[in-house]
Amino acid sequence: MSASTSSPNVVLGVSGGIAAYKACEVLRGLTESGHQVRVVPTDAALRFVGKATWEALSGQPVATDVWAQVSDVPHVRIGRQADLVIVVPATADLLARAASGRADDLLTSVLLTTRAPVIYAPAMHTEMWEHPATVANVATLRSRGALVIDPADGRLTGSDSGPGRLPEPDSIVELALRVLARGRDGLAADLAGHKVVVSAGGTREPIDPVRFLGNRSSGRQGLALAATAVARGAEVVLVAANVQLPIPAGVHLVAVESASELREAVLAAASDADAVVMAAAVADFRPSQPASHKIKKQGAGLDLALESTTDVLAELVGCRPVGQVLVGFAAETGDSQHTALEHGQAKLVRKGVDLLVVNDVSGGAVFGQLNNAATLLWPDGRSVEVGLGAKEVLSDAIWDGVRDLWR
Ligand code: CTP
Repeated sequence: MSASTSSPNVVLGVSGGIAAYKACEVLRGLTESGHQVRVVPTDAALRFVGKATWEALSGQPVATDVWAQVSDVPHVRIGRQADLVIVVPATADLLARAASGRADDLLTSVLLTTRAPVIYAPAMHTEMWEHPATVANVATLRSRGALVIDPADGRLTGSDSGPGRLPEPDSIVELALRVLARGRDGLAADLAGHKVVVSAGGTREPIDPVRFLGNRSSGRQGLALAATAVARGAEVVLVAANVQLPIPAGVHLVAVESASELREAVLAAASDADAVVMAAAVADFRPSQPASHKIKKQGAGLDLALESTTDVLAELVGCRPVGQVLVGFAAETGDSQHTALEHGQAKLVRKGVDLLVVNDVSGGAVFGQLNNAATLLWPDGRSVEVGLGAKEVLSDAIWDGVRDLWR
């Protein structure tokens, strides 16, 4: 936190894209969570949203060049006082100027003078995002420690859709808060350069067109894993099975329903991934012959024949590329012979994973909750207990374990 104020100082850079209007919501989210926000738009950004809006919402003066209040040397002061600089949206032009170290307006000057963590939330048409020039600029900025999140896939300006959409403002605010919470350590994006796959949620196995066999998983733990990995710089593929909660900013989302769809998506994404964390509750059984029409009530009941699904984690263990870290989850209950942890230890050996996260779910303690407690187990006998706390805290402990295994 800067010395001059008690609440964290955030610089919200805004460059000239249509998504600039969504930056107003990001600004609201940041001020409402107690941050001092200085908005630094580019001239082009002001064509989309005017200066009066930014000044009224932030309660601070707004300038686009270094010639206002010169005696204050604003381009140095604003950058130095920042605890975080976040650019929403970051256009292709802004990324190019930042990557080449230009200082031709106040925002690019601030980006050069600040030593705080910098987040870019790009938004542009797919062709611009995928152009080799933009790809190279993003790589350059990431190599210098900036967090450039991937845009979402979805509707763009006009009738087209594809990668290039700004993630939801609330998810950008959450990312900003997460990076701020890591403090100056946020600069050390320790998962940068790594691709990780996270599965989340619970699969649904069709019985007929309207019914399914499902489970209680909300997907919260998987979402927390994905969100923390983005904040630590990783490229994240989130394979989400029936997750109804907001998706974190910066992830590549693959939405699936059944165990077989999840298997396909995870295997495809895992082929070049550095880690796969299987947090999803995957069905062990599915109806062997789902009906193509709604099953009508007949007689007293219904006998449902079930068949086993494929164990995705076991398949991953069998075909993993060299150096890939595999993390499994085990929801266990104790019984008269063994504790939940003993069941976990046996599963670690049986599954052949590099790290197993054991939840004691006696009494249904974990499902849908914001908090989680677990024990991390390694094949060499090490274990770490993570006490009851936010699912993000457990997630960070898991990523610490993954990072150490890479090393
Ligand atoms: N898993 C999987 N594919 C399945 C079932 C489970 O990849 N078809 C993964 C889960 O995502 C989790 C881990 O395997 O990471 C452990 O799941 P669990 O159901 O506890 O393991 P099982 O081997 O099915 O053991 P149990 O006999 O206790 O159910």
